[in-house]
Amino acid sequence: MRYRMTVIGSGYLGITHAACMAEIGHQVIGLDIDEDRVRRLNSGELPIHEQGLEELLRRGLASGNLRFTTSYQEAAEFGDIHFLCLGTPQRKGGYAADVSQLDAAVDSLAPGLNRPCLVVGKSTVPVGTAERLAARLRALAPAGVDVDLAWNPEFLREGFAVKDTLHPDRVVLGVATERAETVLREVYEPLGAVPVLVTDFPTAELVKSAANSFLATKISYINAMAEVCEAAGADVVRLAEALSYDDRIGGRFLNAGLGFGGGCLPKDIRAFMARADELGAGQALTFLREVDAINTRRRARTVDLARELVGGSLTGRTVTVLGAAFKPDSDDIRDSPALDVAVAVEQEGARVSVYDPAALDNARKARPSLGYATSAAEAARGADVVLLLTEWQEFVDLSPEELGEAVAVRNVVDGRNVLDPAAWRAAGWRYRALGRR
Ligand code: UDX
Repeated sequence: MRYRMTVIGSGYLGITHAACMAEIGHQVIGLDIDEDRVRRLNSGELPIHEQGLEELLRRGLASGNLRFTTSYQEAAEFGDIHFLCLGTPQRKGGYAADVSQLDAAVDSLAPGLNRPCLVVGKSTVPVGTAERLAARLRALAPAGVDVDLAWNPEFLREGFAVKDTLHPDRVVLGVATERAETVLREVYEPLGAVPVLVTDFPTAELVKSAANSFLATKISYINAMAEVCEAAGADVVRLAEALSYDDRIGGRFLNAGLGFGGGCLPKDIRAFMARADELGAGQALTFLREVDAINTRRRARTVDLARELVGGSLTGRTVTVLGAAFKPDSDDIRDSPALDVAVAVEQEGARVSVYDPAALDNARKARPSLGYATSAAEAARGADVVLLLTEWQEFVDLSPEELGEAVAVRNVVDGRNVLDPAAWRAAGWRYRALGRR
């Protein structure tokens, strides 16, 4: 079945969802209130860095299956299904999620809904939001009770967004009616055999919070082990490898290092704690405070390692920072551990030169005081210490010999545990990493 649908919010999630829905044959209008973004999208220009997405965007536009608009009226008239893909960032001055973009989208869309339709939330939200929005839609839409709501959380990872959307490992459908379930099963039918879990609203909302807190906990767990390894003179990389053979534990998300950042994990665990507090279940999630604290300590510890390598003070030193994005294959710098460390090092009086293959423009805008270079070699020129903070493949592949030619002193902090310590030491580098001797 080919549906007419809209995707409201054109960020990492919305653009990907819109382009993928067009790719599997639906007719899609993407909406955003940012006119410039909509103009660029309509001309086939992707405003973010995401593997394979620009190609899909262009194919969608060319086929006529996809277009973008700023008009809620056009969206309301067009769609039988409306996906909500708005951001829910951390609220200023608190841990809770700011759901104002989502509320504003519902308030703008609802008055135009004058025939039966399905509104589907995909954003990560505090549990209870779906119930509240369902009531709001019924109250504001001329079609009233004929506007159905479903919650269908999105699990895509940046860098793999297209793959994760077209080949999801599961689809979770939080629904209140059989009709909503039937429609959504038909929407995703072209994806082939995918496990579909049908739940109530709160379970669907919680699945996402639970998944992200589990992942964050796994990362902080291995980073806590890294702290103990450092104190005991052990090696966390070998430790993680040994753990990984136990398939109850598994090896994924056990990469010790600078820890997690991005637009999801940090703010999602905080919003989860805040919401649990409101519900009187705060005690259940107190461990997430520790998960957050371990993660934040990794950033400070990386600065410590840099300072130690240059003899106790960063003042007046030249520091190369490799990586600005919160993870490789992304230009996203939201809560980026790499940029945080770059700024901290600068605040201690160092001259910092940052290089990243994709996130330079975003980093420059957000942190204009830092120095920037257009290649790793240029960033490394005259450095007293090189900090590898985002594990882009091009950094993993760096030749210690070649980079050694550029720097003043061969000091390296491997913030992601991706370099071969033996090879770097053999090339005359002093090598330090988190959780290793
Ligand atoms: C995450 C979830 O994985 C995804 O399912 C959800 O939909 C959105 O949030 P994403 O933010 O794209 O996706 O990044 P992810 O790949 O999960 O990495 C998050 C952070 O953890 C990155 O900063 C990464 O560098 C860090 N990380 C990941 C580690 O430090 N160690 C690991 O072993 C894995």
